[in-house]
Amino acid sequence: MTDNSRLTRTSVSNVLVIGSGAAAGLRASIAAHEAGSEVVVVGTRPRKDAHTVLAAGGINAALGTRDPEDSWQQHFADTLKEGYNLSDPRVVEIMAREAPRAVEELAGWGAPFARTPSGDLDQRFFGAHKYRRTCYAGDYTGRAMLFALVDKVESLGIPIHEGQYVSKLLVHDGRCFGAYAFDIHSGERTVYLADAVVLATGGHTRLWRVSSSRRDENTGSGMHLALEAGCRLSDMELVQFHPTGMVYPEEWVGTLATEAIRGEGGRLYNGSGERYMERYDPERMELSTRDRIALANYTEIAEGRGSEHGGVYLDISHRPKKYILEKLPRMYRQFLEATMLDISKGPMEVAPTAHYTMGGIVVEPETHATGVEGLYAAGETTSGLHGANRLGGNSLSETMVFGRRAGEAAARFSGEVDAQLRDRAAIREVAEEVDSYIKEGEEFARPLQRALRNTMQETCGVVRSEEGLNEGLRRLAQIREASDDVDVRPTSEGFNDLAYALDLRGSLVVAEATILGAIERRETRGAHNRSDYPELDPDMKVNFVVEKGGDGLVVTEEPVHTVPEYLEEWAKADEEYGVTGRLVE
Ligand code: FUM
Repeated sequence: MTDNSRLTRTSVSNVLVIGSGAAAGLRASIAAHEAGSEVVVVGTRPRKDAHTVLAAGGINAALGTRDPEDSWQQHFADTLKEGYNLSDPRVVEIMAREAPRAVEELAGWGAPFARTPSGDLDQRFFGAHKYRRTCYAGDYTGRAMLFALVDKVESLGIPIHEGQYVSKLLVHDGRCFGAYAFDIHSGERTVYLADAVVLATGGHTRLWRVSSSRRDENTGSGMHLALEAGCRLSDMELVQFHPTGMVYPEEWVGTLATEAIRGEGGRLYNGSGERYMERYDPERMELSTRDRIALANYTEIAEGRGSEHGGVYLDISHRPKKYILEKLPRMYRQFLEATMLDISKGPMEVAPTAHYTMGGIVVEPETHATGVEGLYAAGETTSGLHGANRLGGNSLSETMVFGRRAGEAAARFSGEVDAQLRDRAAIREVAEEVDSYIKEGEEFARPLQRALRNTMQETCGVVRSEEGLNEGLRRLAQIREASDDVDVRPTSEGFNDLAYALDLRGSLVVAEATILGAIERRETRGAHNRSDYPELDPDMKVNFVVEKGGDGLVVTEEPVHTVPEYLEEWAKADEEYGVTGRLVE
């Protein structure tokens, strides 16, 4: 069990892509392949079931179909402003400029986006966008994209290895030369050797008890792999709580009720029947920014004005059933299946749910190279685009735009290296580390994962305080201690225990990075609400960066990059809505 006989396979490629989610992973693999690289994709889930299938409402691109006044510059301005000026303007500019190409490309590969009667790509409103710029396929946009991308990848003959759990990136002298993985069913191990690696492993919002992610995804594994390899993480405290997740039944708690419901006219009411967004953002109402609506929902519930099951009401029943079935087919079925509610007849009950990691691995804006040679990253696992509040629909644009760029850059890097690395000592060390987890113990990973999720929910949620965050650190330390004695052995189900134990190890580190950042950000900005620092502090226009130090994690502060002169006028549009901190008294 503990010898190297497990090293049964070696896979060699030019570019290894870790993560088979639609955008970042698959888009990167297509780009690297088209640039002449031999590519291998590894993922834990089946290829058509990556987290992207849950992305619902749409993908942004300033096409101007519905509102011809729209432009990439306006998309840039909206993104920067609603991110409370913590985004890297260089990243925002690239996304806004290149999103139209990305969407057209997807449509060309067969993604069935909605069209206007004249055949153009249709666009709907999403919160806090000045114009309608969200392209969509009903309310299953992510699924539509994922399926089109998988088909494209398969048509190009790019292999996708499913069921692979990556335990470590392989690094020699500051250069990444692959990854070490095991098959979660058979336990068979594979050394993936590659000139360049692209991490497309998603975020860490499954670390909250109420989350829009499914089990065992978005546990922060990619961020942990990157940290271990020598990368830096930024803005980890900036976590987006989507305002509308389901509140019952238990097994559906946190599941997304898409923003498209509000985009299509959905209204929010509290338990007293008041349309309370009038108090929080009378101009934009239900199409206000996510951070404001999430805080408004949180406040209504916390102050006792909630719904029957502890949420608030989201109502679209004023729309005809035919319209709802056309625009929100998945939501209609989701609520029927979960609660027997016909949303064309009555209101849904919803509450904030941890939804998106706005920080992540620090990358170079154009290529998405990390600080480790040969290692690239794209999508939710990276930082730079969203600042303190992500605009709905920008995540899918990000993954497509930067998946392509990272894939191309990785292929370029591979084309330039003289020789492929293979450091046997590093591989042996990583194998031994995995072996060391397989042992009998007094604890099990599942309850400890649950304890971690409760800790994040209770101490680092929508509203935080220094006292609560310190309590969070204390509880994480206890869980870490218990995690040293976790029982891991193969079962008839396979090697799930091992994956849970490794996930727990990584989650603890990433959760700590998040809380450390949240402690340092002594202000309220966007999604980060500090009850003890309820105002935005203009001097905190900085990013908090976490990296491994000799003695654990170290946090430093870095200024946000400046806006290029030719975009300054657009960036000034801040004043239009006023960049404020906590809106709710
Ligand atoms: O509400 C939604 O459909 C989510 C979209 C997004 O996170 O971009």
